Amino acid sequence: MQQKQKEFDGFQRLYQRFLQEEGPSVEWESIEKLPENAVKNYSTLSQPAAEQVQSMLSKLVVVKLNGGLGTSMGCQGPKSVIAVRSDLTFLDLTVQQIEHLNKTYRTNVPLVLMNSFNTDEDTQKVIRKYKGLQVDIHTFNQSCYPRINRESLLPVAKNCNVESDIEAWYPPGHGDFYESLYNSGLLKKFLDEGREYCFISNIDNLGATVDLNILNLLLNPEDNKSPEFVMEVTDKTRADVKGGTLIQYEGKLRLLEIAQVPKEHVDDFKSVKTFKFFNTNNLWVKLDAIDRVIKKGDLNMEIIVNNKTLNNGLNVIQLETAVGAAMKTFEGGLGINVPRSRFLPVKKTSDLLLVMSNLYSLKNGSLVMSPQRMFETTPLVKLGDNHFAKVKEFLSRFSDIPDLLELDHLTVSGDVTFGKGVSLKGTVIIIANHGDRIDIPAGALLENKIVSGNLRI
Ligand code: UTP
Repeated sequence: MQQKQKEFDGFQRLYQRFLQEEGPSVEWESIEKLPENAVKNYSTLSQPAAEQVQSMLSKLVVVKLNGGLGTSMGCQGPKSVIAVRSDLTFLDLTVQQIEHLNKTYRTNVPLVLMNSFNTDEDTQKVIRKYKGLQVDIHTFNQSCYPRINRESLLPVAKNCNVESDIEAWYPPGHGDFYESLYNSGLLKKFLDEGREYCFISNIDNLGATVDLNILNLLLNPEDNKSPEFVMEVTDKTRADVKGGTLIQYEGKLRLLEIAQVPKEHVDDFKSVKTFKFFNTNNLWVKLDAIDRVIKKGDLNMEIIVNNKTLNNGLNVIQLETAVGAAMKTFEGGLGINVPRSRFLPVKKTSDLLLVMSNLYSLKNGSLVMSPQRMFETTPLVKLGDNHFAKVKEFLSRFSDIPDLLELDHLTVSGDVTFGKGVSLKGTVIIIANHGDRIDIPAGALLENKIVSGNLRI
């Protein structure tokens, strides 16, 4: 009951701010130039001495954001239980990674899952199978807030029984992490154990592994000043122009999301020259600093208003926050420009195609890019929404995953299937028109080819 009251207080604060706050959260003209040392290049970080690693890891907690469902990929249940490689799920891979770390360094880094009311039950069932492995898994639930009628601005729910009308409730974004961790009692537990930092990332980012050089920078900083908040950013390409970026504002680093940008500056925001980096959502945050900002009530993350339509046609809004938006509240924020390999999200089946292919191999739960790939970048893949969006359908269209080692660009649209042992190289475009079907035969090699209807060029 007390927990429910805390959640309700959290909602009340967010809702009140939503009603009261006016105007843009950033004045475009007041954005300052990033100071020279605001973003460190990953390549300048030093490796810790081998004998230090064990004690460094004893200060770490790994957190995976696990409140989201797999619906956008056509799956039921938590996104983390989708099989992504060799029948292993996001969760399996994460557990393998941490277990490997714990075995290698004889440590006990705990894995913490932030679940939501949407994912908790299924996650609890799945994590039973990890019993006996060398990983302590802790879970806590993020808050459950009421959706609001867009017209009346009143909650849709008629009572507080979530099960009785589940559509009336939602998990309020990953920014909810700080308060929910605090409310769960886990923050105190980890602080009492002498742990100092948590490494937070999206469960669907397969590149978000524990990095010892970054941990070393946090625990053994050159200037003796440990940053309270580190955001891993990476070079923005034209494909990432919508991602949040780091800015200097009122003398501090903060996250700027496209939703906060005034319309007339959206093109400026998207520029890869002006805003060179984007947020990977891999964050390293000092635990005692989280404790301080929560106790002082200092957290003030921009509200993201997410418009939705319920199954019964009712238009609602849900108020959300993003975990990276808390950066400005902390002292000593720092960006680290990490290699692209630390950002390997699986949002669509086109991402799944890449991570299942021979572009990667699996090593102790981590995906490693094949040395046979000549370029550092991954191919650009577009698969048609009508035939490939759902994981089940996507899988049914590939007898096995084609060889992608020399692929630059693949577009597939319409009713297309792939036989065994297909090789795709350079730029390949396959378009089956409405009513047509294209079966790429087993063993085919397509190199710089357009295949459309019966026409082959
Ligand atoms: P999403 O998949 O919803 O977000 O969640 P996104 O489109 O990548 O963009 P960002 O990162 O929000 O900018 C990212 C991660 O956050 C978790 C999801 O499970 C996923 O791992 N998440 C999201 C929560 O844990 N709670 C939420 O309320 C929302």
